[in-house]
Amino acid sequence: MGSWRAWLVAAGMVVMVTMLTSESVVEAQLQYGYYDQLGCRGVEDRVRTLVRRSYVTDVTASAAMLRLAFHDCQVGPGGCDGSIMIEGNGREMSSDGNFGVKRLDIINSVKSDMEQMCPNTVSCADIIALAGRDAVAFNGGPDIRIPLGRKDADTSSAAEADSKLPPATSTVDRVLSVFAPFGLTPQESVAMLGAHTLGVGHCKNIQDRLRFNSPTAPDSLMYRTQLRAACAVNVFDVAILTNDASQFTFDNQYYRDIQNGRGLFTVDNAISTDPRTAPIVSMFAANQGAFFAAFQSGYVKLTARALTGNQGTVRSTCQLN
Ligand code: HEM
Repeated sequence: MGSWRAWLVAAGMVVMVTMLTSESVVEAQLQYGYYDQLGCRGVEDRVRTLVRRSYVTDVTASAAMLRLAFHDCQVGPGGCDGSIMIEGNGREMSSDGNFGVKRLDIINSVKSDMEQMCPNTVSCADIIALAGRDAVAFNGGPDIRIPLGRKDADTSSAAEADSKLPPATSTVDRVLSVFAPFGLTPQESVAMLGAHTLGVGHCKNIQDRLRFNSPTAPDSLMYRTQLRAACAVNVFDVAILTNDASQFTFDNQYYRDIQNGRGLFTVDNAISTDPRTAPIVSMFAANQGAFFAAFQSGYVKLTARALTGNQGTVRSTCQLN
């Protein structure tokens, strides 16, 4: 009994040290309670209230904000730096990789509110990262605590977005290489793709799936027939297809769907069959808690690459032309 107790105490200490170490690595740059320390209290609550209002009035908005957060963090001089909000020719938003990204106006209107509350203080980059995490909780996923203090970039490049935003046809090698620079483990990388439990895709991103002799099997033939029917009449690319069978709920349905050959994109099917990721897919399909835990730690890492301190600025307007 005594030796069990000693073992438990030792194991608990190892977990505590690991948690402290990983949290302080993030805290060296970003901080929990950052705006409180600057004397601007209630930022997180106010952002949550405002984005939730948009999520209630537009059921597609929360998925849009989660994707926006990934695309902002993936491209730009500082990672999560608000660079996606600088629009115009040759800028990130004009990249094909950002096709379908929308509702940037939500970030803009939260920013206007923040300027009333605490002028020149709250960055666009932080608002985007918060809107993404609030999208997860709003739809029933984990309530993720993220440190704040990101600064905004003043440049934005379509060429960089073209090369860094992974296409729907990405291989598992590409998936792992996208997330490795953020320090994500393979488990956390597979969990990030679980964001496709929300939202939709367009026919132009599943062209390779529509051919009956497509090499991207395994695939449910019935599902492929449904996709072909949905995309058969698709004027102006308005047809949309749900990413999983419960597009408005953040749950582990996505993993069960891809195991059954019902992943929307080639990349979704790829992670369900590759020997490096298939066991993780099986685990998340069976255990939603494991998916939530890996998504939570993965999201904190994904949003931790940022400009901080004297790097970057706090822009007064998020959406620039
Ligand atoms: C290798 C990684 C990834 C690839 C290849 C990928 C690809 C895509 C594609 C092609 C779409 C559909 C675009 C359209 O046709 O409208 C999409 C949608 C989406 N993605 Fe990803 N994605 C990846 C990772 C992520 C991550 C890390 C997140 C968030 C943490 C995310 C969140 C979303 C969401 C929420 C949607 C639906 C957006 C909406 O309904 O407006 N994706 N993704």
